[in-house]
Amino acid sequence: DGLDPEEEVTDVVCDEAELKDGEMMEVEVGDHNVLLVRCDGVYSAISNQCTHYGAPLSKGVLSGQRVRCPWHGSCFNVKTGDLEEYPGIDCLPCHKVKVENNKVYVSGQPKRIKWMGARDQAVLHTIMLLGGGAASLMCAETLRQENYGGRIIMVSRDDLLPYDKTRLSKIMNAEINLKTVTFDDGLIQCYDQILIATGCRAKSLDCPGADLENVLMLETPEDARCIHYACMGCRTVVVGTSFVGMEVAAYMINMASSITIIGSSELPYQKTLGPEIGKATMMMLEERGVMFHMNDAIAEVQGENRRVKAVKLKSGITIEADLLIVGIGVNPNSEFLKGSPIRMDSKNYVIVDKYMRTNITDVYCAGDLTSFPLKMAKGQNVSIGHWQIAQAHGRIAALSMLHREVELNTVPFYWTVLFGRTIRYAGYGEGYTEMVLKGKFENMKFLALYIKDDEVVAASGLNVEPAVSVVAERLAEGRVITKAEAE
Ligand SMILES: Cc1cc2nc3c(=O)[nH]c(=O)nc-3n(C[C@H](O)[C@H](O)[C@H](O)COP(=O)(O)OP(=O)(O)OC[C@H]3O[C@@H](n4cnc5c(N)ncnc54)[C@H](O)[C@@H]3O)c2cc1C
Ligand SMILES: *[C@@H]1O[C@H](CO)[C@@H](O)[C@H](O)[C@H]1NC(C)=O
Ligand SMILES: *[C@@H]1O[C@H](CO)[C@@H](O)[C@H](O)[C@H]1NC(C)=O
Ligand code: FES
Repeated sequence: DGLDPEEEVTDVVCDEAELKDGEMMEVEVGDHNVLLVRCDGVYSAISNQCTHYGAPLSKGVLSGQRVRCPWHGSCFNVKTGDLEEYPGIDCLPCHKVKVENNKVYVSGQPKRIKWMGARDQAVLHTIMLLGGGAASLMCAETLRQENYGGRIIMVSRDDLLPYDKTRLSKIMNAEINLKTVTFDDGLIQCYDQILIATGCRAKSLDCPGADLENVLMLETPEDARCIHYACMGCRTVVVGTSFVGMEVAAYMINMASSITIIGSSELPYQKTLGPEIGKATMMMLEERGVMFHMNDAIAEVQGENRRVKAVKLKSGITIEADLLIVGIGVNPNSEFLKGSPIRMDSKNYVIVDKYMRTNITDVYCAGDLTSFPLKMAKGQNVSIGHWQIAQAHGRIAALSMLHREVELNTVPFYWTVLFGRTIRYAGYGEGYTEMVLKGKFENMKFLALYIKDDEVVAASGLNVEPAVSVVAERLAEGRVITKAEAE
C-alpha cells in the first residue's frame, strides 16, 4: 500500500477495547470522516462517505469484510476500500491504522492508488461497446482497470457523452455480423469482441393522438427539464402508476394546476411494492389534490393545433388536459438484432448466462437489454432495469472478455422518492404471495418483507435504515430468511 507510517500524521481515535470484533464506528481524523472497523481482530479504516450520494457508511451494515451502504446498497471492502457493489462510482480511500499501547491510531492522509491501464498500440485487438449507458461505461472502465491494452470503441446514438441519454428519435440501425458491425451511415467496423448494451426506451402510447406535441415521456435530463417547465399552471394527466408516473406526479404538486393519474391496475405499484403501499401512496397523493382513475386506460388523445386538449378514457370519461405524461413501461432496443443469430426471449430481450455471454462466441450483452439469471432468485432468467445492475453487468462482461470469468451475483436494489422521502427496495419480489409488514405506512415508517414459498424474496422500507440493506446483504450471502423469522 506504499504508506510510510513515519511520514503520516496520525491521530489517536479510541482505545483498543472500544470496538469489538465485527463492529464499526465513525471517527474524525483531521478533517476526514473515517470509518473504523474491527474484523477478525484487525483494525482497518476507510473513508466513511459512500461514493454514490455520500451516505455515512457507519449507519450501514457490516458483514464480514464488507460494509453495505444504508441508502442504495453500494458495498465496499473495509480492508481495501474497493467497491464491491454498485451504484457507488469509485472505490474509497484507505487510512493506515496502527495499535500501540492499547490505543488505536489512524493516519490523517488517505491514500488511494487507483490504477488504470492505457491503450497499448502494440495490442491489435478491438472491443466494441454498442451503447453509451451505464453498462458500457462500467465495461470500459473495468477493461482498463484490468490492464486491457487493446482498442475500445464506444458507439452511441446520443450526441452527448455517457450518462446523458438524449432523444430517441435518432434511430441508428446497426447490423451485426460475425466480427463486423455495419452502421446506417455505411461505416463498417471490425471487432474481436463486442458488448451490446443499447438498453430500453420508454413505451409510447398506442392510440390516436399519441403523437401530439405535448405528450411527453421521461427518459433524459432534457425531458425532465421540459416537463418541469411545461407543467407550470397546466392541467396535467399522467398515465402509468409505477415508479416514474408516481414520482413525476408527486413532483408536480404545487406546480401543475391539476394532476390526474390514469392506471391500468386497481392500485399503484400493485405488482411491485404491493397493494397496501400502493393504497397508502394513493391516499397521500389524493390528500394533496391528485385525482386517480384506476382500472382504466387511454383510448384517445384529443388535440387542437397539434396540442393536447383532452384525454378520453376506455371507460368513456373525458378529462380536459394541457399536458400528458406517459410512463407505461419500456421496450428493449434490440430491433437491429432481428435476423442475427443472437438468442433473444419472446419479449426481445437478449438471453445471457451468468458471465454475460450471449449464445454467440465473443458477443456479450449487459444492462436493461438482457434477460439474465438472477442468482438470488434461484437462477431464474429476469429482465430488471436498474442502474446498479447495469453497472454490475458491465463489469462482469469486461472480466469475461478478458477470460477472468467472475459469476454475476448482485442483489437488485432500487429506490423511489415521493415528497422528499425515499422508499428503498431490495431483492426480487415477482410472484410473492404474502407480505409481512412492520410499522405503518401512514406513520412514514415501515418495513415490508415479501414472501414466496415461505422465504423472504424482497424487502421495501421507509425510514428504517439500514433494514433494507440488511436484507440485501443476507440475500447476497445466499442466506435464507424464513417467513417465521420475518414475522
Ligand atoms: C426516468 C428514469 C428514472 C430512473 N430511475 C432509476 C432509479 O432511481 N434507480 C435505478 O436503479 N434505475 C433507474 N432508472 C433505470 C436506469 O436508468 C437504467 O437501468 C440504466 O440506465 C440501464 O443502463 P444500460 O447501460 O443498460 O442502458 P442505457 O443507460 O439506457 O444506455 C443505452 C445506450 O445505448 C444507446 N443506444 C440505444 N440504441 C442504440 C443503437 N441502436 N445504436 C447505438 N446506440 C444505441 C443509447 O443512446 C444509450 O447510450 C431510471 C430510468 C429512467 C428512464
Ligand atoms: C443461438 O440462438 C439462436 C436462436 O435460438 C439459434 O438460431 C442459433 O443457432 C444459436 N447459435 C449458436 C451458435 O448456438
Ligand atoms: C435461461 O437462460 C439460459 C441460458 O443462460 C437458457 O439456456 C434458458 O433456455 C433460458 N430460459 C428461458 C426460459 O428462456
Ligand atoms: S449513497 Fe451509498 S449507495 Fe447511494
